[in-house]
Amino acid sequence: MADKKFEKNLLCIGAGYVGGPTMAMIAHKCPQYKVTVVDVVKEKIDAWKTDDLPIYEPGLLELVKSAREKNLFFSTDIDKGIKESDIIFISVNTPTKTFGEGAGKSADLQYWEKTARDILRASESDKIIVERSTLPVKTAIAMERILSLNDKGLNFEVVSNPEFLAEGTAIKDLENPDRVLIGSKETESGIKARNEIVEIYANWIHREHLITSNLMSSELSKLVANSFLAQRISSINSISALCEKVDADVEEVANAIGKDTRIGDKFLNASIGFGGSCFKKDILNLVYLCETFGLYEVADYWESVVKINEYQNSRFVNIMNKAMFNTIANKRIALFGFAFKANTSDTRETAALYVTQKLMKERAKVVISDPKALKNAKKDLQSYGSDIEYEEDPYKAAKDSHAIAVMTEWDVYKNLDYEKIYSEMEKPAFIFDGRNILDHQNLFKIGFEVYPIGKTPLAHFKEA
Ligand code: NAD
Ligand code: UGA
Repeated sequence: MADKKFEKNLLCIGAGYVGGPTMAMIAHKCPQYKVTVVDVVKEKIDAWKTDDLPIYEPGLLELVKSAREKNLFFSTDIDKGIKESDIIFISVNTPTKTFGEGAGKSADLQYWEKTARDILRASESDKIIVERSTLPVKTAIAMERILSLNDKGLNFEVVSNPEFLAEGTAIKDLENPDRVLIGSKETESGIKARNEIVEIYANWIHREHLITSNLMSSELSKLVANSFLAQRISSINSISALCEKVDADVEEVANAIGKDTRIGDKFLNASIGFGGSCFKKDILNLVYLCETFGLYEVADYWESVVKINEYQNSRFVNIMNKAMFNTIANKRIALFGFAFKANTSDTRETAALYVTQKLMKERAKVVISDPKALKNAKKDLQSYGSDIEYEEDPYKAAKDSHAIAVMTEWDVYKNLDYEKIYSEMEKPAFIFDGRNILDHQNLFKIGFEVYPIGKTPLAHFKEA
């Protein structure tokens, strides 16, 4: 039921990392549409109405402010939102199931199913439902079946429109995406609904970037895209372990192979391991799907991407322990960064969490520094109480420490005064660069024992 002032009423259910930024972009680019974002969490909705947004993303606040209260609205009144909408985008969370059948691998669809029931109950007119969350293949078909059970004579067309934005660059990705994928049933009504969604994006995205497919291809493409990206990181991380054994340099290897245009140079940065709420979850979802169809070899192949990631996490802590004379008990260790990547406050599945837990088991004194993620770090680590210290200032965090471990590739860590830091640390002073962002030769000259990823360590103290 379009508000008379606007051409269409768009609703988004789920005001998180995807729902908030995506709908802000649509509202900004399409003043002719009324865009409402709803969520069950009141504090989140309240925060979207202020300048202290619930998530940090470069450029997001300016984007939200450009449309808020003009054609972009945030609300907890889900039923009203559903009643008034023509098109409903759903971007609720779809975490890995932690209980029952498929626990640890398959997607937990309880939040998704609740939205289906809300839509069924509150709708008073036909609607297009846009699946934005990442979901197992055939979820859209299942949803359409549930919605078709209504006794109000209403018609619901479900299309799949997976999101490919990366955190930290979300606004750029939304404004100028490599592609927008819209999948639908290949029936007359399915294609009509799909075209309506294409028209929304065509307000600012060139047609050649708007690609269409059938429903299942669209749903599967999202899982496969994330799995391929993560696979590249696991591939280079596996090679980083070999580089350390044979005195090769993983950055030089990545550079050499990445120049082959068939391979390409993206996503070849060796690291402590990929984090974030989606890579592991989506690969495991793919693994579960393959297992469901008896494709056990295919499932094992993709599961190995997650296993190498876990191996890389544990390898990093083992290297720290071994370098520091096999004992880190009572040693102050400063973690530079806790977010799962730079330019975000998000700490979901961050490798830094694993490293912290392992260091705490070894009874190290951990101090965590991060420019944006300390609030989330405190929440994630609340069970440790005051045993962990949080210090935004990296100089203060590093003072009196035995070691610094770089967890996140924040620019701020590249340009610190490491001479000053070195002078205030315990000796020997160790740096473990889990992101290969520092000037290792310079740090070595200053006096540090330097342990990069996938490169020969620069150590004044040779291990026995
Ligand atoms: P999120 O947890 O940040 O946001 C989800 C929001 O949905 C939460 O605020 C939650 O309160 C709300 N919600 C849950 N159930 C609800 C309901 N029944 N009614 C109303 N609101 C409800 O999650 P996210 O990171 O935005 O991810 C959402 C989906 O998008 C996931 O499927 C994810 O895999 C996918 N995705 C995420 C990213 C990313 O960068 N985070 C990128 C692409 C795709
Ligand atoms: C990823 C995908 O890039 C998005 O396309 C997708 O939409 C999103 O997941 C999703 O579905 O949620 P995101 O997790 O936000 O985006 O961030 P990435 O830039 O992909 O980084 C993921 C992790 O891999 C981070 O921990 C990052 O530090 C790490 N990484 C990335 C490396 O270790 N090496 C690299 O070369 C690149």
